Amino acid sequence: MKNIIAIDGPSGVGKSTAAKRVASLLNWSYMDTGAMYRAVTLALLRTNVSIDDKTGLKRVLASLDYKQLGELFFINGEDVSEAIRNSEVTKNVSAVSADGSVREALVRLQRELGKNGKWVVDGRDIGSVVFPDAARKIFLTASQEVRAQRRFLELKAKGIQTTFEEVLKDQVRRDHIDSTRDISPLRKADGAVELDSSNLSLEEVVDIIISYQNYIPALNSRTHRHYKT
Ligand code: DC
Repeated sequence: MKNIIAIDGPSGVGKSTAAKRVASLLNWSYMDTGAMYRAVTLALLRTNVSIDDKTGLKRVLASLDYKQLGELFFINGEDVSEAIRNSEVTKNVSAVSADGSVREALVRLQRELGKNGKWVVDGRDIGSVVFPDAARKIFLTASQEVRAQRRFLELKAKGIQTTFEEVLKDQVRRDHIDSTRDISPLRKADGAVELDSSNLSLEEVVDIIISYQNYIPALNSRTHRHYKT
């Protein structure tokens, strides 16, 4: 699929910031698949339906009208952009995204959207499952400490009270669930280029992803580590 750039990687690695920037520079659309899993989680929390209640889950999935318009996310017409980032959703989203019927519904939606236009898509299974024939596949990584530090500073800037240790602990827990679940665990897709962003600025990550536009066949399946001197 010439119209898809897939960016996968663990939480807090800066995928969405990089993906948004790449999309804007190329004049492509950006699809935030994590926001979709968050929207389902929010809908379940609001209706008090547990992920183990399969009938309730089916009902919630069937009634969910989800839309992304630029940076804004809507459920049944309501702007939930802020709500899907709250701590309750963040705490529960890994368990929700491990469910097979949730994944099936959202992968279907992602493929449907991907049929038209040009997309930079970020998530965990984009290059491996959703769009295995994407034109470009990036597996973005960074060390646990760097990711937790970035997330900690982000939360602090938003005035959210937390500690670095708490953020790190929650990140390790989420990484574990995301990478050990049975269905579509987080992993580097076949043919993806691994990019370690621990020592890179956002602009450097974006420049490298855009430069892969030209060189990707030669770089397939290799790991690239870029360090500032
Ligand atoms: O990227 P994020 O933190 O907003 O993602 C929220 C959760 O959704 C996270 O636990 C991983 C999961 N997710 C997933 O399983 N598959 C995707 N394609 C995107 C996100």
